[in-house]
Amino acid sequence: MDVIIKGDYDEMSKFAAGVIAEFVRKKPDCVLGLATGSTPIGTYRELVRMHKEEGLDFSGVRTFNLDEYLGIGIDLSKPYDEDQSYARFMYEELFKHINIKKENIRLPDGRTSDPDGFCKWYEEEIKRAGGIDLQLLGIGGDGHWAFNEPGSSLASRTRVQVLTKQTLDDNYEMFYKKAGVPREEMPHFAITMGIGTILEARNIMMIASGRKKAGVVAKALEGPVTSQITASAIQLHPGGVIVVLDQEAASGLALRDHYMHVEKLKEKYGLSTRYI
Ligand code: PGA
Repeated sequence: MDVIIKGDYDEMSKFAAGVIAEFVRKKPDCVLGLATGSTPIGTYRELVRMHKEEGLDFSGVRTFNLDEYLGIGIDLSKPYDEDQSYARFMYEELFKHINIKKENIRLPDGRTSDPDGFCKWYEEEIKRAGGIDLQLLGIGGDGHWAFNEPGSSLASRTRVQVLTKQTLDDNYEMFYKKAGVPREEMPHFAITMGIGTILEARNIMMIASGRKKAGVVAKALEGPVTSQITASAIQLHPGGVIVVLDQEAASGLALRDHYMHVEKLKEKYGLSTRYI
């Protein structure tokens, strides 16, 4: 596991975007797993900048998003609207600014009438695409990956989940409140890739920022692997694992100084790209 500790949110975001850009340059038809939430916004902003200023080409890239609220209207054929879906978030923050092809975008369908059937189809779609090359992940305040709330099986597949009070509170503050949506109208269900699904991605990159994530980041990286902190499944991944943190999010790590030492040595000996 490569734990990279950057000074602040901007540096963390630029680094994470740089890793994604490397994948896109090396494999122009790569399959990216994408995440929503407040943390990846800076990463997407930097990717948009790289597309506009450096010609980073997304025309062959295929994407799968981690999760979506269930019961939210999404219709990609209609003009972008004002709902709080993660589909809207992705269009607003990334897709509409880059040259990705619409047919290469996969998002969980939050208004499917057959959630279980959809979840099975989503799993098959990931397989048909040849699997995910790089999965981007945040970490929730309750330690979740995607919407795999505490108690989710670490072998779980794409399915419907009931959101915890903490997730509802966090996301209300971050998104719904600003949009003027009453708390009681927030969806309580979501479709999410499972932890088993996520662990099959060939590489994963988790990003986290801010002091409020310090405790849960330390539990996920250095605590026991447990379904109570589903992001702790990061310790089970057999392939490339990159964790990019800012100083505040890293402040609870027992091995923080060691991770920084490793990064310095990698830089000194030119090993800084070994995670790609
Ligand atoms: P956040 O959410 O980026 O808004 O903190 C992370 C997550 O829930 O995975």
